[in-house]
Amino acid sequence: MNIVGLINRASNQRLLKSLSIKLPLTKESYGKTVELRVEEGARFNRVSFHSKKLEIGAYSYMHSGEIYMVSKIGRYCSIAERVIIGVDPVGHPVDWLSTHPFQYTKKHSPIETSLVYKSKWEDVEIGNDVWIGQEAMIMKGVKIGNGAIVGARSIVTENVPDYAVVVGIPAKIIKYRFSESVIEKLQQYPWWCLPASTLQKLFFNDIEKAIEQLSKVSWSEEAFSKVHVKIKNKKILFKGD
Ligand SMILES: CC(C)(COP(=O)(O)OP(=O)(O)OC[C@H]1O[C@@H](n2cnc3c(N)ncnc32)[C@H](O)[C@@H]1OP(=O)(O)O)[C@@H](O)C(=O)NCCC(=O)NCCS
Repeated sequence: MNIVGLINRASNQRLLKSLSIKLPLTKESYGKTVELRVEEGARFNRVSFHSKKLEIGAYSYMHSGEIYMVSKIGRYCSIAERVIIGVDPVGHPVDWLSTHPFQYTKKHSPIETSLVYKSKWEDVEIGNDVWIGQEAMIMKGVKIGNGAIVGARSIVTENVPDYAVVVGIPAKIIKYRFSESVIEKLQQYPWWCLPASTLQKLFFNDIEKAIEQLSKVSWSEEAFSKVHVKIKNKKILFKGD
């Protein structure tokens, strides 16, 4: 790495540290054109990013894995090891003579071809307070509701409602985290928008009391600081905003 590279890397590190954000600092962890907006406290260190545009909410973390077609990961999400999000189930043609890309790409092909194969880009959207277990896989276009849980090694092919617990291949709802009436109340109180000073006072481990408190708080949206990350010409540009 040259001296300019070293200076940029040090200033990028300082910027991320000032907002308690962890992101990969090497270009190998990012696809060709990636744009991220990442709120403070988010930690995605051993993750490779291939999304075109992705917003990551405050204090969400992902231990390791790959992010493909995803446009939003909400606040306070916990994503375990080796999770893959936004996988294309038809990334190769399934009804052509072959599924191999030699039929429609110049790379690694023994033939001249003018055929084009492109499957539709459909982003995954992950709500707030979502827990995704180890080695889960989320297929493209799936919407995961607030407060949902995805079990370890599950493959999610359909939308997941708020506060549902889904497991298996394909993932199915086994239960909800709370009763219907509690979920209805929680849907009125997006607590992940609150400033830390209000959050601090909540009874986290008593859902009825927490809901009672949430019904009385004065709702003000916390504007978290953000880092804007752009990958351009194989360079990573970090900017505070
Ligand atoms: C989804 C999860 C939270 C459910 O936990 P739980 O509420 O205690 O549920 P239970 O263990 O009572 O399981 C309920 C049923 O679902 C099944 N089940 C649970 N997790 C499953 C999974 N990941 N895949 C398939 N089936 C699963 C259980 O076998 C049980 O089936 P049964 O009713 O036929 O006996 C948990 O199993 C899980 O996968 N957690 C993620 C763990 C992880 O990834 N940790 C590392 C990162 S922190």
